[in-house]
Amino acid sequence: MSTSNKNIPCLITIFGATGDLSHRKLFPSLFHLYQQDNLNEQIAIIGIGRRSMTNDDFREQVKASIEHYVTNTEHLEHFMEHVFYHEHDVNDEASYDELLEFSNDLNERFELGGNHLFYLAMAPKFFGIISDYLKSSGLTQTEGFKRLVIEKPFGSDLVSAEELNNQIRRSFKEEEIYRIDHYLGKDMVQNIEVLRFANAMFEPLWNNKYISNIQVTSSEILGVEDRGGYYESAGALKDMVQNHMLQMVALLAMEPPISLKSEDIRAEKVKVLKSLRKLEPEEVSHNFVRGQYDAGTINGVEVPKYRDEDRVAEDSDTPTFVAGKIRIDNFRWAGVPFYIRTGKRMKSKTIQVVVEFKEVPLNLYYETDKKLDSNLLVINIQPNEGVSLHLNAKKNVQGIETEPVQLSFSMSAQDKMNTVDAYENLLFDCLKGDATNFTHWEELKSTWKFVDAIQEEWTQTPPEFPDYEAGTNGPLESELLLSRDGFHWWEDVQ
Ligand code: BG6
Repeated sequence: MSTSNKNIPCLITIFGATGDLSHRKLFPSLFHLYQQDNLNEQIAIIGIGRRSMTNDDFREQVKASIEHYVTNTEHLEHFMEHVFYHEHDVNDEASYDELLEFSNDLNERFELGGNHLFYLAMAPKFFGIISDYLKSSGLTQTEGFKRLVIEKPFGSDLVSAEELNNQIRRSFKEEEIYRIDHYLGKDMVQNIEVLRFANAMFEPLWNNKYISNIQVTSSEILGVEDRGGYYESAGALKDMVQNHMLQMVALLAMEPPISLKSEDIRAEKVKVLKSLRKLEPEEVSHNFVRGQYDAGTINGVEVPKYRDEDRVAEDSDTPTFVAGKIRIDNFRWAGVPFYIRTGKRMKSKTIQVVVEFKEVPLNLYYETDKKLDSNLLVINIQPNEGVSLHLNAKKNVQGIETEPVQLSFSMSAQDKMNTVDAYENLLFDCLKGDATNFTHWEELKSTWKFVDAIQEEWTQTPPEFPDYEAGTNGPLESELLLSRDGFHWWEDVQ
């Protein structure tokens, strides 16, 4: 993480401050930034919630969360002096006048230069109304910067995303909107770009001449937990593919940007996302597989099927698993499938990219009629963080026989969860005004177009769910997706 541009005075207003995201990720991340001296004394955080609560009670809750998620709590008491609670009804215009007054007080007290960061850690249905009232109350008329940070989902299809965008744009300019995709804050996701563009050895091979296919997996052991209500309306396609999975594909497939400026990187990502081949209705079932978990056993623990989860319909058709074959229609990638796969209640928690290279033109070694092992570049994003290159080398026996070997590096284990790191990176970027690792509206437009085509077809054809046992790698169809092309998912490679 860059440590330049430290100490930016700012008032951070968190809507939804008593919610899960704030307690699990935002406050621990802000505290860690403070502890590392990336936030200084000119910082104030207003936690906004509906409930009536004293400042002291709120601080106790925040402290308890931080103590739960962060091991080293040095300077916690000092940090807490910057945290305030404000009771507020987001639908009530008058509430915003009180918030304005309170914000002005803190702005003077902490010398914040009128810099405002509004973080909406709330359900998307409130994004529009909050941004409207922020403007009409005068909260956005400030002498400093104003930025709006919003969580996904950003709409539920292209039409609703467009409506939401138009509404928010009435109060904030595109460059003031920071749409979070927490995968873009993960160190190893950010490393994809560095590996590609800071090494001479990959870029010449990074194309359809040398790469046979690229696989991107994000599998989870967890089920839908207590988010059944939200998940029923989203499913794996909208929850994971439209954002995290396609963002990783964009980083893997983009052309080298002309500089590392945010607008230059985004321009390249937008180009790739515009080149995603949109599927015709009759192509969907051949290229995209959906699944839903049945009951099963994971690590010795029996888990229920999705349809038995809380706030999930008994006959739900919501997919908890998606695998797909994506084609990118440009010169570099013509003919190279990008396979993506994501699901809940799978065998392991793994976020991984596998780049499989084409075979050498002729096998000269050992049993010359046999295929050599594939060369792979494996990027481990989570839980292991590192990179490995799978090569063939001489076996340590007489004669010339080959065996697969690995060159690998692993980032040192950190004292906290990866996702806290991701939020920390993103919050700091946002304070610095660096929008590189946030999603631009043009990217959203393309990803929704791609996903809408699949969703529309799926709505027409009811699936036969459940179709994979919890604790497995998903439905059989997902294996067939690759075997039809002569490939297979690379499982358990590190
Ligand atoms: C979120 C999804 O965006 O990402 C969740 O809404 C999912 O359903 C989560 O569990 C996965 O994130 P990570 O960082 O644990 O891979």
